[in-house]
Amino acid sequence: MLTSVSSDTHTSQLSSGAFDEIVLPYAEEFDLSTVGNLTYCQNLYDFAKECKAINIIECGFGWGFSAISFIAAMSERGGKLTSIDPMCFGIKNDKNMAWVQKEAKNNNIEYEFVKSFSRFYRPKPPYCLAYIDSDPYEVAVDFFHLVHTVREGGLIVIDGYGRQPPIKQAIDQVITYEAFTRFGYEPHRCTQKWYSKEIAHAVFQV
Ligand SMILES: C[S@@+](CC[C@H](N)C(=O)[O-])C[C@H]1O[C@@H](n2cnc3c(N)ncnc32)[C@H](O)[C@@H]1O
Repeated sequence: MLTSVSSDTHTSQLSSGAFDEIVLPYAEEFDLSTVGNLTYCQNLYDFAKECKAINIIECGFGWGFSAISFIAAMSERGGKLTSIDPMCFGIKNDKNMAWVQKEAKNNNIEYEFVKSFSRFYRPKPPYCLAYIDSDPYEVAVDFFHLVHTVREGGLIVIDGYGRQPPIKQAIDQVITYEAFTRFGYEPHRCTQKWYSKEIAHAVFQV
Protein backbone atom coordinates (compact mmCIF):
# COMPACT_ATOMS: atom_id res chain seq x y z
CA MET A 1 0.00 0.00 0.00
CA LEU A 2 1.26 3.46 -0.78
CA THR A 3 0.53 6.41 1.39
CA SER A 4 1.70 9.96 1.49
CA VAL A 5 4.40 11.39 3.70
CA SER A 6 3.59 14.98 4.45
CA SER A 7 6.38 17.48 4.26
CA ASP A 8 5.92 18.75 7.79
CA THR A 9 6.40 15.23 9.14
CA HIS A 10 10.07 15.70 8.47
CA THR A 11 10.78 19.03 10.05
CA SER A 12 14.43 18.86 10.99
CA GLN A 13 15.18 18.37 14.64
CA LEU A 14 18.14 20.55 15.21
CA SER A 15 19.94 18.41 17.68
CA SER A 16 20.24 14.79 18.61
CA GLY A 17 23.09 12.90 20.18
CA ALA A 18 24.05 10.72 17.25
CA PHE A 19 23.58 13.45 14.70
CA ASP A 20 25.78 15.84 16.66
CA GLU A 21 28.40 13.24 17.40
CA ILE A 22 28.66 11.61 13.99
CA VAL A 23 27.42 14.02 11.32
CA LEU A 24 28.65 17.37 12.62
CA PRO A 25 32.36 16.44 12.78
CA TYR A 26 32.10 15.07 9.24
CA ALA A 27 30.43 18.27 8.04
CA GLU A 28 33.19 20.29 9.69
CA GLU A 29 35.91 18.23 8.05
CA PHE A 30 34.50 18.13 4.54
CA ASP A 31 32.87 20.75 2.35
CA LEU A 32 29.17 20.21 2.87
CA SER A 33 28.27 23.03 0.50
CA THR A 34 29.13 20.61 -2.30
CA VAL A 35 25.78 18.91 -1.77
CA GLY A 36 23.79 21.32 0.37
CA ASN A 37 23.85 22.10 4.05
CA LEU A 38 23.01 20.53 7.38
CA THR A 39 19.30 20.44 6.56
CA TYR A 40 20.14 17.98 3.83
CA CYS A 41 21.80 15.66 6.33
CA GLN A 42 19.11 16.19 8.95
CA ASN A 43 16.33 15.29 6.56
CA LEU A 44 18.02 12.04 5.61
CA TYR A 45 18.75 11.31 9.25
CA ASP A 46 15.11 11.97 10.15
CA PHE A 47 13.77 9.78 7.34
CA ALA A 48 15.91 6.86 8.44
CA LYS A 49 14.99 7.32 12.09
CA GLU A 50 11.32 7.62 11.28
CA CYS A 51 11.14 4.28 9.51
CA LYS A 52 13.41 2.67 12.12
CA ALA A 53 15.80 1.70 9.39
CA ILE A 54 18.20 -1.17 9.88
CA ASN A 55 18.99 -1.80 6.21
CA ILE A 56 19.51 1.08 3.79
CA ILE A 57 20.64 1.24 0.18
CA GLU A 58 21.81 4.43 -1.50
CA CYS A 59 22.56 5.08 -5.16
CA GLY A 60 25.23 7.79 -5.25
CA PHE A 61 27.87 7.90 -2.50
CA GLY A 62 29.24 11.19 -3.81
CA TRP A 63 31.00 12.88 -0.88
CA GLY A 64 29.48 10.61 1.75
CA PHE A 65 27.13 13.09 3.40
CA SER A 66 24.10 10.90 2.89
CA ALA A 67 26.08 7.84 4.02
CA ILE A 68 27.25 9.48 7.25
CA SER A 69 23.69 10.66 7.98
CA PHE A 70 22.32 7.14 7.55
CA ILE A 71 25.07 5.68 9.72
CA ALA A 72 24.23 8.16 12.47
CA ALA A 73 20.53 7.33 12.21
CA MET A 74 21.16 3.59 12.54
CA SER A 75 23.86 3.87 15.18
CA GLU A 76 21.54 3.15 18.11
CA ARG A 77 20.25 -0.18 16.91
CA GLY A 78 22.91 -1.17 14.40
CA GLY A 79 22.23 -2.05 10.80
CA LYS A 80 23.57 -2.24 7.29
CA LEU A 81 24.27 0.43 4.68
CA THR A 82 25.07 -0.26 1.05
CA SER A 83 26.37 2.56 -1.17
CA ILE A 84 26.47 2.07 -4.95
CA ASP A 85 28.59 4.46 -7.00
CA PRO A 86 30.80 3.98 -10.07
CA MET A 87 32.69 7.17 -9.08
CA CYS A 88 32.24 8.08 -12.71
CA PHE A 89 32.70 11.80 -12.17
CA GLY A 90 36.21 11.28 -10.86
CA ILE A 91 35.34 12.53 -7.40
CA LYS A 92 38.43 12.41 -5.20
CA ASN A 93 36.93 11.24 -1.98
CA ASP A 94 39.17 8.54 -0.55
CA LYS A 95 39.37 10.45 2.70
CA ASN A 96 35.59 10.70 2.90
CA MET A 97 35.28 6.97 2.26
CA ALA A 98 37.83 6.09 4.93
CA TRP A 99 35.98 8.28 7.44
CA VAL A 100 32.60 6.72 6.59
CA GLN A 101 34.03 3.22 6.90
CA LYS A 102 35.56 4.02 10.26
CA GLU A 103 32.33 5.52 11.62
CA ALA A 104 30.35 2.53 10.37
CA LYS A 105 32.69 0.18 12.19
CA ASN A 106 32.63 2.25 15.38
CA ASN A 107 28.84 2.27 15.36
CA ASN A 108 28.06 -1.33 14.66
CA ILE A 109 26.98 -0.73 11.08
CA GLU A 110 27.87 -3.23 8.38
CA TYR A 111 29.02 -1.08 5.49
CA GLU A 112 29.31 -2.18 1.88
CA PHE A 113 30.55 0.05 -0.91
CA VAL A 114 29.88 -1.25 -4.42
CA LYS A 115 31.74 0.42 -7.27
CA SER A 116 29.15 0.02 -9.97
CA PHE A 117 26.32 1.69 -11.80
CA SER A 118 23.21 1.15 -9.71
CA ARG A 119 21.25 -0.58 -12.45
CA PHE A 120 23.82 -3.42 -12.52
CA TYR A 121 23.64 -4.07 -8.81
CA ARG A 122 21.54 -6.98 -7.65
CA PRO A 123 19.71 -5.73 -4.53
CA LYS A 124 19.67 -7.70 -1.31
CA PRO A 125 16.24 -6.91 0.18
CA PRO A 126 14.39 -6.14 2.31
CA TYR A 127 15.46 -2.53 2.63
CA CYS A 128 13.89 -0.09 5.04
CA LEU A 129 14.97 2.90 2.98
CA ALA A 130 16.25 3.35 -0.57
CA TYR A 131 17.90 6.67 -1.37
CA ILE A 132 18.29 7.68 -5.01
CA ASP A 133 20.86 10.41 -5.65
CA SER A 134 22.82 9.20 -8.64
CA ASP A 135 22.39 9.95 -12.35
CA PRO A 136 19.40 12.28 -12.87
CA TYR A 137 18.62 10.49 -16.12
CA GLU A 138 18.47 7.12 -14.34
CA VAL A 139 16.04 8.06 -11.60
CA ALA A 140 13.11 6.08 -12.98
CA VAL A 141 15.39 3.11 -13.69
CA ASP A 142 16.70 3.20 -10.11
CA PHE A 143 13.21 3.63 -8.74
CA PHE A 144 11.77 0.58 -10.49
CA HIS A 145 14.91 -1.38 -9.74
CA LEU A 146 14.42 -0.81 -6.03
CA VAL A 147 10.74 -0.18 -5.39
CA HIS A 148 9.89 -3.81 -4.73
CA THR A 149 12.89 -4.33 -2.50
CA VAL A 150 11.64 -1.90 0.14
CA ARG A 151 9.59 -3.39 2.94
CA GLU A 152 6.12 -2.20 3.76
CA GLY A 153 6.30 1.04 5.73
CA GLY A 154 9.75 1.75 4.31
CA LEU A 155 10.69 4.85 2.34
CA ILE A 156 12.03 5.62 -1.10
CA VAL A 157 13.63 9.04 -1.11
CA ILE A 158 14.58 10.73 -4.36
CA ASP A 159 16.90 13.71 -4.30
CA GLY A 160 16.60 16.80 -6.43
CA TYR A 161 12.94 17.04 -7.36
CA GLY A 162 12.27 20.40 -8.94
CA ARG A 163 15.73 21.62 -9.68
CA GLN A 164 16.69 19.10 -12.30
CA PRO A 165 14.08 18.61 -15.04
CA PRO A 166 14.89 14.92 -15.73
CA ILE A 167 14.28 14.12 -12.08
CA LYS A 168 10.95 15.90 -12.02
CA GLN A 169 9.96 14.14 -15.21
CA ALA A 170 10.93 10.75 -13.79
CA ILE A 171 9.09 11.28 -10.54
CA ASP A 172 5.99 12.46 -12.33
CA GLN A 173 6.14 9.26 -14.40
CA VAL A 174 6.61 7.13 -11.33
CA ILE A 175 3.52 8.66 -9.83
CA THR A 176 1.51 7.80 -12.90
CA TYR A 177 2.67 4.24 -13.31
CA GLU A 178 2.74 3.24 -9.68
CA ALA A 179 -0.39 5.20 -8.78
CA PHE A 180 1.27 7.15 -6.02
CA THR A 181 -1.26 9.64 -4.89
CA ARG A 182 0.82 12.18 -3.02
CA PHE A 183 4.34 12.67 -1.84
CA GLY A 184 6.12 15.02 0.46
CA TYR A 185 8.88 17.45 -0.32
CA GLU A 186 11.77 18.58 1.73
CA PRO A 187 13.97 21.54 0.99
CA HIS A 188 17.40 20.34 0.10
CA ARG A 189 19.63 23.35 -0.12
CA CYS A 190 18.56 26.10 2.21
CA THR A 191 21.39 28.57 2.02
CA GLN A 192 20.66 31.92 0.52
CA LYS A 193 22.57 30.91 -2.56
CA TRP A 194 20.67 27.75 -3.22
CA TYR A 195 17.33 28.11 -1.54
CA SER A 196 14.37 27.37 -3.71
CA LYS A 197 11.04 25.91 -2.79
CA GLU A 198 11.41 23.80 -5.89
CA ILE A 199 14.41 21.89 -4.65
CA ALA A 200 13.19 18.92 -2.76
CA HIS A 201 13.36 15.37 -1.73
CA ALA A 202 10.45 13.36 -3.04
CA VAL A 203 9.48 10.82 -0.42
CA PHE A 204 7.39 7.74 -1.10
CA GLN A 205 6.15 5.42 1.57
CA VAL A 206 5.70 1.82 0.55
C1 LIG B 1 25.19 14.21 -6.21
S1 LIG B 1 26.35 12.94 -6.00
C2 LIG B 1 25.73 12.09 -4.58
C3 LIG B 1 25.87 12.88 -3.31
C4 LIG B 1 25.80 12.03 -2.06
N1 LIG B 1 24.49 11.42 -1.88
C5 LIG B 1 26.21 12.81 -0.84
O1 LIG B 1 25.35 13.08 0.03
O2 LIG B 1 27.39 13.16 -0.73
C6 LIG B 1 25.96 11.84 -7.30
C7 LIG B 1 26.81 10.59 -7.33
O3 LIG B 1 26.14 9.63 -8.15
C8 LIG B 1 27.10 8.85 -8.81
N2 LIG B 1 26.46 8.20 -9.95
C9 LIG B 1 26.29 8.66 -11.22
N3 LIG B 1 25.65 7.76 -11.99
C10 LIG B 1 25.39 6.70 -11.18
C11 LIG B 1 24.74 5.45 -11.36
N4 LIG B 1 24.22 5.11 -12.54
N5 LIG B 1 24.65 4.61 -10.30
C12 LIG B 1 25.15 4.95 -9.08
N6 LIG B 1 25.77 6.12 -8.85
C13 LIG B 1 25.89 6.98 -9.87
C14 LIG B 1 28.21 9.83 -9.14
O4 LIG B 1 29.45 9.17 -9.34
C15 LIG B 1 28.19 10.76 -7.93
O5 LIG B 1 29.17 10.38 -7.00
